Amino acid sequence: MSDRKLAVVVLAAGKGTRMKSDLPKVLHPVAGRPMLSHVLASAATLAPAETVVVVAPGMADVEAAAAPSRCAVQDRALGTGHAVAAAREALAPLVAQGSTDLLVVFGDCPLMTSETLQKMLDARRRAGAPEIVGLAFRPQDPAAYGRVILDDAKAGEGARIEKIVEFADADTAQRQIGLCNAGLVIGDAALLFDLIGRLGSHNAQGEYYLTDIFGLAHAEGRPAGVVECPPEETLGVNSRADLALVEAVMQRRLRRRVMADGATLIDPETVWLSADTRLGRDVTVHPSVFFGPGVTVGDRVEIRSFCHLEGAEVGDDVVLGPFARLRPGAKLGRAAHVGNFVEIKNAVLGEGAKANHLTYLGDATVGAGSNVGAGTITCNYDGFLKHRTTIGAKVFIGSNTALVAPVSVGDGALIAAGSTITEDVPADSVAVERSEQQIREGAAARFREKRIAEKKKRS
Ligand code: UD1
Ligand code: MG
Repeated sequence: MSDRKLAVVVLAAGKGTRMKSDLPKVLHPVAGRPMLSHVLASAATLAPAETVVVVAPGMADVEAAAAPSRCAVQDRALGTGHAVAAAREALAPLVAQGSTDLLVVFGDCPLMTSETLQKMLDARRRAGAPEIVGLAFRPQDPAAYGRVILDDAKAGEGARIEKIVEFADADTAQRQIGLCNAGLVIGDAALLFDLIGRLGSHNAQGEYYLTDIFGLAHAEGRPAGVVECPPEETLGVNSRADLALVEAVMQRRLRRRVMADGATLIDPETVWLSADTRLGRDVTVHPSVFFGPGVTVGDRVEIRSFCHLEGAEVGDDVVLGPFARLRPGAKLGRAAHVGNFVEIKNAVLGEGAKANHLTYLGDATVGAGSNVGAGTITCNYDGFLKHRTTIGAKVFIGSNTALVAPVSVGDGALIAAGSTITEDVPADSVAVERSEQQIREGAAARFREKRIAEKKKRS
């Protein structure tokens, strides 16, 4: 059955009213990327021929986030079955080819793993597999989830679903059932669309329930199979509190992943990671570090407390922080040292280069082995445009230097502390820009005496 094609439909037309947000629910980020992107990424591991995201009218921003997946618009939110039907037209050419399965996932369930989706696909594809497979779970508190009713007559041949009853429509006995519906379905696409076309909305919520296809199929002698997944994966986001819960689960997973890859998190709970954070082997992350999107860290790197990184590439053997900030485009070469209260934006530090204290390096290049003294600032912005600072290799920049870009400093040059550099500095030269120092012998003592006398007179 492996020559069958797969189509994925992601349901994302829910308004998310309880989020109380101007942003569509599925665009709220979890681990630094929209919920929808997590769902699309998990589905993409199954290599579907087509993915269609079902959105509500006026969700242009969701459509943009879904690209290159196509979107279908569900005019009114009339239920999950109605939502899947909205994708019918977009998928018609593929479904017409036959041998196509359709997987329905929810855009607001970002914790659903590719492993579970693969299990569903496998359950559908193995020899003698049922034409439809549902996803179920056993939560501690079954609350208001739909209940999965198994067909006792088929108990011997692997569990088969007789029907799924929504909580609102369930009787007392059905509400005692612990097996809950996660909502996801995989099945032969033509069959699913046929069943969905026959759904009614005579139920407690007046909706076209996707779940009713199970009862319809069973009545036709096509009992569905069932796959179970950990309850955690089914967590959906309906409110900000749900979002925080899902984020916490995602963070736990990401921390486990970087630790499995060989990083030490001294206090894991205090390290926040993005979905795409990559840490190398023997990286040590001290407590309270934030990794925004787009960070890659090499091997044997030490990241001390209170660092904030995003869009940054950190080479092997780097020492970072405490209190360092790497902004997008920061690139630290092997064994570079970046210390406290140093901000780096769109700047490259060469191998072994150091900027250890109180420095801003923006739109800059610092060559290998150079030392940037405390309080150095690249003045990259003139109020209108950004300009680059280029610093060569083995340069020594004295403390409290202002480099007014565009400006360059040649290899091996030395800049005296406190200089404001506006002209290029040639290689191996010394640049000093400061007024000459004057010494007035005994002047401080004379001043002090005068002041003391003045103070006595007034008291
Ligand atoms: C659904 C299941 C329920 C299951 C639960 C698990 C149905 C009828 N019920 O209920 O058995 O226990 O999920 O969480 O399927 N959506 C649309 N258009 C609509 C309605 C929903 O796109 O008209 C989308 C939502 O945005 C969401 C998904 O479908 O992503 C699920 O909808 P939701 O309202 O959360 O379904 P539940 O009532 O939770
Ligand atoms: Mg739900």
